[in-house]
Amino acid sequence: MPTQRLIPATLAFEDGVPYAAKYGDVYHSADGGLGQARHVFINGNGLPARWRGRDRDRFTIFETGFGLGLNFLATWQAWRGDPQRPARLHYVAVEKHPFRAADLAQLHAAWPELAALSAELHAQWPVPMPGFHRLLLDGGRVVLTLVFADIADALPQIDAFADAFYLDGFAPSKNPDMWAPEILGRLNRVAAPGATLATYTIAAAVRKALAQAGFDCERVPGFGRKPEMLAG
Ligand SMILES: C[S@@+](CC[C@H](N)C(=O)[O-])C[C@H]1O[C@@H](n2cnc3c(N)ncnc32)[C@H](O)[C@@H]1O
Repeated sequence: MPTQRLIPATLAFEDGVPYAAKYGDVYHSADGGLGQARHVFINGNGLPARWRGRDRDRFTIFETGFGLGLNFLATWQAWRGDPQRPARLHYVAVEKHPFRAADLAQLHAAWPELAALSAELHAQWPVPMPGFHRLLLDGGRVVLTLVFADIADALPQIDAFADAFYLDGFAPSKNPDMWAPEILGRLNRVAAPGATLATYTIAAAVRKALAQAGFDCERVPGFGRKPEMLAG
């Protein structure tokens, strides 16, 4: 992976929602970040039901765009609250512009119900160095692999058997690189048999690229003001 200098995210807000000026987009729905995480990404992948099962000792999630880690924290919280959870949760996320630890703490203060988990995440938050960072959380039962890199450089380096994908790289119109057919077409290399995915966009180009990559997606009800999202 090219060792380019890592440029951290700049903390900013638009109407109270975390905002990335570089991309001209918000980090989560104005209708609620935690609600979006639960509806679009967790429920959109059929979780928690899909991680239950006799043979499952682990479940792996792959996320494009870790951002402020809200999807991760919501997923970790759902996993902890499920008596039928698999023994381990593996979460692999790619992020080109990670937040600084102090900024993450400021952002996460908006969700006091996640305070215990976010504090554990802050305590282990890696130095802003490009490459792979592995965090063992929740007594080692939750393994968070953060890849601080551009997705185009990171994907060929990642070996994973993802059971679920969270595609969360800003709107395709604002950040087409994250949704390029060459990127989406590589996801099946890191997918386990029967993997699912979810995303808030229903952009035609994304649906086409996902179909070409072998993902059978359908439009389902979206979150907040978005009438539809994709799940498959
Ligand atoms: C909508 S935000 C993700 C929100 C996040 N999933 C959460 O739960 O907070 C999109 C993220 O994608 C990252 N990103 C944008 N382009 C990228 C690229 N080419 N490679 C890797 N990450 C990228 C941005 O820095 C941003 O953090």
